[in-house]
Amino acid sequence: MIKFDFDTYNETFTECDLESIHSDFLKGDIPNWYRLDEDRDAISKCAQKVRLQADVFIVIGIGGSYLGAQAVINALTPYFHKTKPEIIFAGTDLSSEYLQNLLEYIDDKSVYINVISKSGTTLETLATFSVLFDYMQNKYDDYNERIIVTTNGEDGKLLEMANEYHFPKFLISKDTIGRYSVLTAVGLLPIAVAGIDINALLKGARKAKDNFDDCYKYVKLRDTMYQEGRIVEAFTVYEPKLASFTEWLKQLFAESQGKENGGILPISVINTRDLHSLGQYLQEGIPMIFSTVIFVNDDINLNIKAYDMPMDKINELAFESVAEANYPHTKTNAIIVDELNEENIGYLIFFFEMSAMLGCSLLGVKYDNQPGVNNYKEVLNRQM
Ligand code: PA5
Repeated sequence: MIKFDFDTYNETFTECDLESIHSDFLKGDIPNWYRLDEDRDAISKCAQKVRLQADVFIVIGIGGSYLGAQAVINALTPYFHKTKPEIIFAGTDLSSEYLQNLLEYIDDKSVYINVISKSGTTLETLATFSVLFDYMQNKYDDYNERIIVTTNGEDGKLLEMANEYHFPKFLISKDTIGRYSVLTAVGLLPIAVAGIDINALLKGARKAKDNFDDCYKYVKLRDTMYQEGRIVEAFTVYEPKLASFTEWLKQLFAESQGKENGGILPISVINTRDLHSLGQYLQEGIPMIFSTVIFVNDDINLNIKAYDMPMDKINELAFESVAEANYPHTKTNAIIVDELNEENIGYLIFFFEMSAMLGCSLLGVKYDNQPGVNNYKEVLNRQM
């Protein structure tokens, strides 16, 4: 269960007709992230095979091609407990040291790879895959069965290679948007390989699709904050397992809305750690920030003798105290989650995707392009 607590400051939210923006959106081509109709059987079958045979599953991809999967996997697997197979992300940078260390680490392990790129042309992904492809060819006779490609079905280097070497492949439509692709094969395959129930994840997303009231309210609230000059949204968590979820949120909102010299800048705050760093700015820096806290109402009975109180209670008191202490410098809006499970995470994914999309209409920008990112890719590719 998720409770949206957006009324703390008795704000008068921006007046706008989000229902009609939403219904106009539904009159166009409905994108795959909204349809939630991915072929789960094929994904589950492939994941099952990998789970039986792999020690490590390397996901190569950048931006929307890995952030969603990493967010869900980290939120839903225990600390200190490696999944079997262990999921390793690569291609998220151009660090030769990382890649070299990875090759050493996987040397005595059974390796499967999922290389993911919608365009099939992204440099970080292709450079990393080039190294791991050579490695796999040298190591395994059946290397081509161990490399799974997720890309668009029309063009790009990855599609060419998948066809040439007969890699198993998941083809996504060319209009798939990376940051909205976590509930497509892009995110669902790595998530399923990690042993997470993708049916329950999608069930949660469908629940969010059945009720837009809180989503509309959140979109209006963000716009109200923006009109008040609060141009930074601090996605704040008190459960570090959600740190990767805030990374996904940063990408979702920054790439959707940071356009035409406008948009709210998303940052992430991991508490209580960041109370001892960013906390100072949130209380006394430029009053341009609002916090959207995702608080997990855990109920783990871990009593702290020194304070004669359960740790969860202390964490909750910290959250409430910070909200009070930061006000009016930073306003806090809360999303309270009763438990970290597949349904709740699926719900939040769809809720935020929808909010980012609708918010773009209020800003008057397109939600489904990222001209700045493409510009970087083009400038770099020209020099290669
Ligand atoms: O959201 C997006 O579309 C981008 O962040 C992409 O996911 C990212 O640039 C990677 O692109 P690709 O999947 O084409 O390799």
